[in-house]
Amino acid sequence: MTARIIDGNALSAKLRGELAAKAAELTAKGTQPCLAVILVGGDSASAVYVRNKVAGCEKAGIKSLKFEYPQDAAPADVLGKIAELNADPSVHGILVQLPLPKHFDEKAVLEAISVEKDVDGFHAENVGRLSQGQEAFIPCTPNGVMEMLKSIETPLRGAEAVVIGRSNIVGKPMAMLLTAAGATVTVCHSGTRDLNFHTRRADILVAAIGKPKFVTGDMVRPGAVVIDVGINRLPDGKLCGDVDFDSAKDVAGAITPVPGGVGPMTITMLLANTVESASRAARKA
Ligand code: GUN
Repeated sequence: MTARIIDGNALSAKLRGELAAKAAELTAKGTQPCLAVILVGGDSASAVYVRNKVAGCEKAGIKSLKFEYPQDAAPADVLGKIAELNADPSVHGILVQLPLPKHFDEKAVLEAISVEKDVDGFHAENVGRLSQGQEAFIPCTPNGVMEMLKSIETPLRGAEAVVIGRSNIVGKPMAMLLTAAGATVTVCHSGTRDLNFHTRRADILVAAIGKPKFVTGDMVRPGAVVIDVGINRLPDGKLCGDVDFDSAKDVAGAITPVPGGVGPMTITMLLANTVESASRAARKA
């Protein structure tokens, strides 16, 4: 069997078309959605992600503002900029690209962003709201995964879902979203005993570990939906996921490729959260 490929580029193009229409409608009524992006330091992967986020905004008719700080920036300067953007009614989303340099208190920076503008969904209040099933900004990567599962009409209620990775950005919110959708969720991590026992039970397997080609075909249940959140650069410069695509695709029922899978969906959901935030602001005005 060869798995169905879940094409993140195609799904993104469809959703971004709908978002561009919404953004144009809001702009015509006097509220152009606007995302402010803060990048601290010279991490090359972060610079690429930020460039893609800004380009995604431009294409969808969303205004973007980019603020760059050097590696040795004073945290007070970045916090000052966040306070300024919180107070600016023309800004609807604020994103601080992670990771931050070691001398920053990452939690304090994320908490400084106004909950209403936290389009990454990383603020503790948004995380708490999500965990309680209240309206919240949902972190973009797991939200994009849910859209991909929806696009292929994967049954979630009663499904066995296994998430490998327990980060605040992906693993934990992914588990919350799958649980809310009715799946039975197991969260595995580096301390999990007999990982294969868990992965081989999974109807839905989400890999978010940050280790190239970690999940091999023998770890996959035949017919499972395999979602690869990893983006790793190999020594030859090529990108690969956390899943060994070549062996997994012969076992899985559906699988996301890298590149062209979850990556573009993360940015699409960021644009969606920004448009939603602008729409809320326009309703309030
Ligand atoms: N670093 C890796 N992923 C993300 C993300 O989704 N948002 C932000 N702000 N930083 C990240």
